[in-house]
Amino acid sequence: MQTDPSLRREIGVFDSGVGGFTVLRELRALLPTARLRYLADTAYAPYGSRSPDEIRARSIAIAEHLIEQGAGLIVIACNTATAHAIEALRARWPDLPFVGTEPGIKPAVVATRNGRIGLLATPATAASDRLRSLIERHVGDRQVVVQGCPGVVDRIEAGDLDSAELCTLVDRHCEPLRAARVDTALLGCTHYPFIEPLWRASLGPGVELLRIETAVARRAESLWTPAPDEQPALDVETSGDPAALKAWMTQVLGWEGVTVRAWRPELGIGPAGPSVRN
Ligand code: DGL
Repeated sequence: MQTDPSLRREIGVFDSGVGGFTVLRELRALLPTARLRYLADTAYAPYGSRSPDEIRARSIAIAEHLIEQGAGLIVIACNTATAHAIEALRARWPDLPFVGTEPGIKPAVVATRNGRIGLLATPATAASDRLRSLIERHVGDRQVVVQGCPGVVDRIEAGDLDSAELCTLVDRHCEPLRAARVDTALLGCTHYPFIEPLWRASLGPGVELLRIETAVARRAESLWTPAPDEQPALDVETSGDPAALKAWMTQVLGWEGVTVRAWRPELGIGPAGPSVRN
């Protein structure tokens, strides 16, 4: 493994799939000269229906790869991986900064007027001890309705951002929040901002919707010192199909000309694997 800190020139970012692009987008805006490497663990998405052990094992394998490629900072652009793996990652690489992504409970406590907060997250995040302790530490006498939302990430991964089926699913997941009359809701999964209009439509105009990706990117910015001669770069890798991810990026993000490579450690295919270019 590469250990010389002067050679660690990249920011490594990962998620189960496309969700972390919401964070990466902010990072690119805040750190325009940074060398960024994004890993989408598409073959294992969604993390939200996996066990804590699986999520941890995937996160460790990914971090190992990002470090080998030269990461000097790792952004876990995934609430689910943060909930179940950030402690293990920090224990394994104590000298490397890891920036996690967690629902903005504290900003929600400040924002709420009626003391009722809703949190939309993956089932694995909703069930995590880390979330429970975050809530216990910060909410005081406010009420937090935590809603796990199975099925949503799968659709976003498939490029569905507005179908009637997705609207129905979103509406069903928002029902407990409406019933509790929350006035503030948190998008606790990095995939969810891609369908923000659907959450808004279902929750209604009186509910303030809070997102976290800008704060995560700012935290990363505060920890990163780009080298003076830095040439910006963006490398994207996926454990799934590079062509499909590339098509998703073009269609949803409008990003053209980014190389997407296959990352298949099980098959011994790493950075040198097949790639898709424009
Ligand atoms: N985007 C991720 C999160 O923020 C993971 C979603 C999933 O794979 O279930 O939790």
